[in-house]
Amino acid sequence: MSILEVKNLKYQYNNYEKTSKYVLDDVSFSIDEKDFVAIIGKSGSGKSTLISHLNGLYKATSGDILYNGSSIYRKDYNLTGLRFKIGVVFQYPEYQLFSETVIDDVAFGAIKKGLSKDEAYKKSEEILKLFEIEQLKNESPFNLSGGEKRKVAFAGIFVMEPEILIFDEPDAGLDATSKTNFYNLIKKLNEEKDTTIIFITHNLDDVMEYANKVIVLNEGKLLKIGKPYEVLSDEEIMKNADLDMPYAIQIFNDLKIKGYNLDTNKLKFNELYNQMLDIN
Ligand SMILES: Nc1ncnc2c1ncn2[C@@H]1O[C@H](COP(=O)(O)OP(=O)(O)OP(=O)(O)O)[C@@H](O)[C@H]1O
Ligand SMILES: [Mg+2]
Repeated sequence: MSILEVKNLKYQYNNYEKTSKYVLDDVSFSIDEKDFVAIIGKSGSGKSTLISHLNGLYKATSGDILYNGSSIYRKDYNLTGLRFKIGVVFQYPEYQLFSETVIDDVAFGAIKKGLSKDEAYKKSEEILKLFEIEQLKNESPFNLSGGEKRKVAFAGIFVMEPEILIFDEPDAGLDATSKTNFYNLIKKLNEEKDTTIIFITHNLDDVMEYANKVIVLNEGKLLKIGKPYEVLSDEEIMKNADLDMPYAIQIFNDLKIKGYNLDTNKLKFNELYNQMLDIN
């Protein structure tokens, strides 16, 4: 059974009512437990609007969303409980920090979820260690760098141990090392704790690197959902979405023209690199 099912979702912002323009237009897809899903599409294609629906923050104009088989739009559905199970991290989450110290900020959500104070603080320390910022725990979040603040904001969501973690352009503004660390951490959560991951990105090589499924949006419509190589190497889909293919696929295609046939199942950076080293 799918963990999350989106059925014929339509949405229009209030100010669009007169023009009847749907920002999400009949979007349907399903996500399985342990999927690592990328959502891609041009600016304005509806990505952020879509994820705002997935934990019930926005209510669809029509259509349905099922979490573990139950409609979250059912009258008596516990939406507060849902938000502990589906953690959405919006863009620039560091602007939502508010506590006096880093550790207080991280522990806040876990206490709200119902953990005892002791447990919440213990878990929060563990997460700060994972992010290698435990030395900052008694600092004011406002005195940290942008990347450090971002990590604190992520830690505050991770500590609630949601079943599904959703990120809106999590790497925007992070340095290269922080970005790699971040992706490796969510990869670990995905592999070891079976956490389902959904992330929005404009970096299609990151989709090749981390995702097992990709959703392409264009003008509020779902153009395609499928395996990264199959979707991102499809010229027609990429043309319709007005997106450039990831470098890994461009390199693959150029080498193919020269007569080298690489394995399409091995196009993550290291794999591609090793395949190229083996060319003679
Ligand atoms: N609060 C709002 N009120 C009215 N229209 C909005 C609002 N937020 C977004 N929109 C419109 O909805 C459409 C989709 O916006 P959305 O933010 O979901 O796009 P996106 O794919 O996340 O883009 P980006 O890659 O730039 O973040 C756009 O046309 C945008 O102008
Ligand atoms: Mg967006």
